[in-house]
Amino acid sequence: MARCFVTRRIPGNAIERLAAEHEVEVWTERLPPSRDALRERVANTDGLLCMLTDAIDAELFAAMPNLRAVSTYAVGVDNIDIEAASGRGIPVGHTPDVLTETSADLALALMLAVMRRIPEADAAVRAGDWLTWEPAMLLGHDLHRATVGIVGLGRIGQAVKRRVEGFGARVLHSGRRDGVALDRLLRESTVVTLHCPLTEQTRGMIDESALRTMREDAYLINTARGPIVDTDALRRALAEGWIAGAALDVTDPEPLPVDHPLLKAPNLVIAPHLGSASHETREEMANIAVDNLLAGLRGDPMPHCANPQVRGSRA
Ligand code: DGY
Repeated sequence: MARCFVTRRIPGNAIERLAAEHEVEVWTERLPPSRDALRERVANTDGLLCMLTDAIDAELFAAMPNLRAVSTYAVGVDNIDIEAASGRGIPVGHTPDVLTETSADLALALMLAVMRRIPEADAAVRAGDWLTWEPAMLLGHDLHRATVGIVGLGRIGQAVKRRVEGFGARVLHSGRRDGVALDRLLRESTVVTLHCPLTEQTRGMIDESALRTMREDAYLINTARGPIVDTDALRRALAEGWIAGAALDVTDPEPLPVDHPLLKAPNLVIAPHLGSASHETREEMANIAVDNLLAGLRGDPMPHCANPQVRGSRA
């Protein structure tokens, strides 16, 4: 029986399956464990089930001498030092595929929300500003007339492509291996939607120069990772009208403090990192995260492993 630490309560009853085989402690507070609390709780851990809010870096790996398997409740693994894990022969599980369609839905919801000004419209009705039908009230822009530039045509980028093509939009994409150059995508698109992972190459990729390259009538959608976009440059781009608007599911910093200057920018829609947040998907993610951890603890290959080169049995 292994000792497992789960850094937050997760939907569904997958944790019961883990607890049927191992000793499990779950962090039950709404806020994640602080660095000190995490270091203290994981000192004797064999199996760690973590969230994207936990920084599992080399220092933390060093503080877990017994660790045999990590499983993150996310597809993105940018919060985990994969090299440090691999160096120790520790497999890192994640949850790709299951959240692809749900995340793509959210990207579309944000696109339509900012282009058709839904949050502004909702606020106007509640503020008593719906006096009559008006020919020019809250005019937005059409997705079917847009050129949608998809940055990163991986699983989620492809799911977004299918959706926007269904709306009739023209699609461009840029990626590591194919597509058009990012510069051309930024110059031609009226919607730029980010679906690349956060890596050293993509960190700060949408900076002042990228935002100034975008069209004045273009919208930026970020449902990938906050640090891909330079937050202050985006604030200025919105305040000074370099672009038409933005919709973000992820921010830098995250969470965004309520008094953060970005929240004062016009034409901005923000959601609190809800990409995979449907009941069904979050429950399936819980099952996959637990399956990954169980397999890793048994020394079996994980069903979804971010460092599959680490596969040896670790009985
Ligand atoms: C992920 O899994 O990486 C997503 O960002 C969670 O919604």
